[in-house]
Amino acid sequence: MGSDVEFSNVKGTRDILPEDALVWRRIEEVIRKKMREYNYQELQMPTFEYTELFRKSTGKDTDVFQKEMYTFKDKGGRSLALKPEGTPSVVRMYLQHGMKSRGVFQKFYYIERMFRQEKPQKGRLREFRSFGAEAIGSKSALTDAELIKSALDIMDELGIKGIEVKINSIGCQKCRKEFMKEFKKFLQQKLDSLCEDCQRRFTTNPMRIMDCKVDKRKLIDAPVPLDYLCDDCRRHFSELEKHLDYLEIDYKVDTFLARGLDYYTRTVFEFIHSELGAQDAVGGGGRYDGLIKFLGGKDAPASGYAMGMDRMLLLMPKVKEYREIDIYIVTLDVKSDIIGWELLYKLRENGFSADKDCLGRSPKAQFREADRQNATWTIIIGGEERKKGVVQLKRMKTGKQKEVPLDIEAIKREIKC
Ligand code: HAM
Repeated sequence: MGSDVEFSNVKGTRDILPEDALVWRRIEEVIRKKMREYNYQELQMPTFEYTELFRKSTGKDTDVFQKEMYTFKDKGGRSLALKPEGTPSVVRMYLQHGMKSRGVFQKFYYIERMFRQEKPQKGRLREFRSFGAEAIGSKSALTDAELIKSALDIMDELGIKGIEVKINSIGCQKCRKEFMKEFKKFLQQKLDSLCEDCQRRFTTNPMRIMDCKVDKRKLIDAPVPLDYLCDDCRRHFSELEKHLDYLEIDYKVDTFLARGLDYYTRTVFEFIHSELGAQDAVGGGGRYDGLIKFLGGKDAPASGYAMGMDRMLLLMPKVKEYREIDIYIVTLDVKSDIIGWELLYKLRENGFSADKDCLGRSPKAQFREADRQNATWTIIIGGEERKKGVVQLKRMKTGKQKEVPLDIEAIKREIKC
């Protein structure tokens, strides 16, 4: 390989080494456990989709679609995109597989990798892990509250403290029109002073200007959607507040929270953590009552959220997780080694994590390896043991050793004591 070849991972991706993989597994286990408790079913989606799906759902004028998507042409000239978010795929799967017939109300979750070509920094990657939950078929604010509660429960179980919940309502198609008229009037007067991105958004996606971090101070007196909600949307929002109060969830109403994706209606929410710095959203979501119909399905309300798992990881308490195996077999000579291999497979068949040396190492080196592997037990087999048809079973923590018949049932009994 030439010295000019950079042999490292691609910028914005991350390598997960075994010790990190343990933490990832823990995050996934907690997500799956909680999602089962909340009765959400798992979906697994493809890595790439037709670009058109995201143009129609994420929105052609959003930053995600315009600037951040990885798109490419396949050999047939079709435009494909690595998925930047999961909601469009969930809706596509729901429609394509006629999943409505399974019930009027269904709840799904997914743990998937997403791809966004953003400038990498702390908590912002180009390939990131994301967990999402989507509830299709309910227009009730109860569902929005349940979604918020499920995310908080997961973070709580992972020991993530200090999450701030922000909520807002951006109204329905009907009342949003009224708000947009006033908002655009307000923006028109300040247009020259807005940042470059917002000047562009003014024509493409003015809603996105609401949560621009650069122009935040200039918008302080701007009209906000909450003041333009129709009666139904207002009622929906106060129900959400009532349910969150009932669930004893602390939240802040952020009248400028708009979220950057096109499909939202009514409820929007975000989970914020101050320790994350500039990328302070651990997750976010909201209601998308119009999307299913827009993508060709029968009208169905829906709501959901997604969490950035890489950001969750940054917030988790740093506890060192140890790799452990149940049993390491140490053999003292070649004949014992053959018995050791037979026993090894029996132990594994019986559900133990077990291993032994395959490099012909000395007994001393094998004992060192048992320590390195954090084995709970070591089984020692030598000439004496062979003659007597026994093994030495040593509990590594206490150093206590006991002679046990070379019999899987006898070993199991001893280990269980
Ligand atoms: P989103 O806010 O675009 O929402 O992304 C969800 C979360 O993914 C973010 O809050 C953040 O934690 C994480 N995230 C986004 N971009 C990156 C990145 N470049 N690196 C690391 N983490 C990142 C959605 O994706 C919607 N689909 C959520 C939703 C579901 N709404 C309704 N249903």
